[in-house]
Amino acid sequence: MKHPNLHIKTKLPNTGTTIFSIMSALANEEKAINLSQGFPGFKIDSKLTKLVAKYMDDGFNQYAPMTGVPKLCEAISNKVTKLYGTTYSAEKEINITSGATQAIYTAIAAMIRENDEVIIFDPAYDCYAPAVTLHGGIPVFINLLEPNFEINWDEVKKRVSQKTKMIIINSPQNPTGSVWTAHDIHQLEKITAGTDIIIISDEVYEHVIFDRLDHESVTKSEELASRSFVVYSFGKTYHATGWKMGYVLAPEELMKEFRKVHQYNVFTSNTPIQHAFADYMQNENKYLKLPDFYQKKRDVFRKSLEGSRFKVLNCSGSYFQLLDYSDITDEIDTEFAIRLTRESKVASIPISVFYNNAPKQTLLRFCFAKKESELKKAAEILCSI
Ligand SMILES: Cc1ncc(COP(=O)(O)O)c(C=O)c1O
Repeated sequence: MKHPNLHIKTKLPNTGTTIFSIMSALANEEKAINLSQGFPGFKIDSKLTKLVAKYMDDGFNQYAPMTGVPKLCEAISNKVTKLYGTTYSAEKEINITSGATQAIYTAIAAMIRENDEVIIFDPAYDCYAPAVTLHGGIPVFINLLEPNFEINWDEVKKRVSQKTKMIIINSPQNPTGSVWTAHDIHQLEKITAGTDIIIISDEVYEHVIFDRLDHESVTKSEELASRSFVVYSFGKTYHATGWKMGYVLAPEELMKEFRKVHQYNVFTSNTPIQHAFADYMQNENKYLKLPDFYQKKRDVFRKSLEGSRFKVLNCSGSYFQLLDYSDITDEIDTEFAIRLTRESKVASIPISVFYNNAPKQTLLRFCFAKKESELKKAAEILCSI
């Protein structure tokens, strides 16, 4: 179907279908082990699904309040106070969203105007820059420092200007697995102190952090928290990415602006699931045990890769492992990722797609949120290459 008078001037000329959809489709077509897209490859707790069913049966099937079900916001407020020591008002400073992506998009929509600059650290999760561009903002990309993908604070200092409206940070980081230290928080405080630069802190992997490291949430810093949107995902913490449920914390003044957009965007998120999470969250072991749960998977995957020609990079958090294939081939990463899926039946994501301006690299990202048997099988194939 084509209309003769329809001449669309795209608002996102450089954006195509995300690589996640492309690689997952290819993995399905090739019946490959899919370590590309970041979603858990195992069942969620049936206690949680039973709770959702219960609330559906009990009639909790109509619109929830725009800000979220009050008992869920209370549970979140208590959790944040206990873990990070800062109290957010359940009523005024917490909002339930349809996934972390929606929270990020809505915060950007509420804050960014024409020509506002937004600092993004590359390689970055792919939803940040398009949302900035759609609202007339200008993404300012700063590449993380290899090999450990740390922030180049000297460069940040140079690139922060009068035009900087926002900085988007993400720890533990997708796709590199790097995590922020207290030093990073201190640097960000120092560079932005006395400014009104807004921070979006994407903390969806707060509980996917290894080697007994602490998650350095911006909520712990009064200087930063007082001008931050802090974003979380129930999908990541409870293995239910397909439910697309998350939440955002922000001081009242910022949250008021967030809600002006949210109410005309999604308005509200899934009611029975909100009630179910409010109950399920009461068992804090479900998230406190997550670092050990995922560390075991990380270690199985890394150990099974011993002796392979892939170099295994550091991974301190998130459920992604970077592998360097420079000892195998000098193909570009997109081509090698496709060939690996077609010929060896293991799907990954090439790292260059997470950059605006990718340096010369030979890195692929593998998701290890999968069953151990699947990780071992994938590693065995990779070892044979
Ligand atoms: C860093 C990061 N932020 C946000 C999201 C999206 O979370 P949600 O599915 O809750 O929208 C993801 C999902 O992969 C992610 O890796």
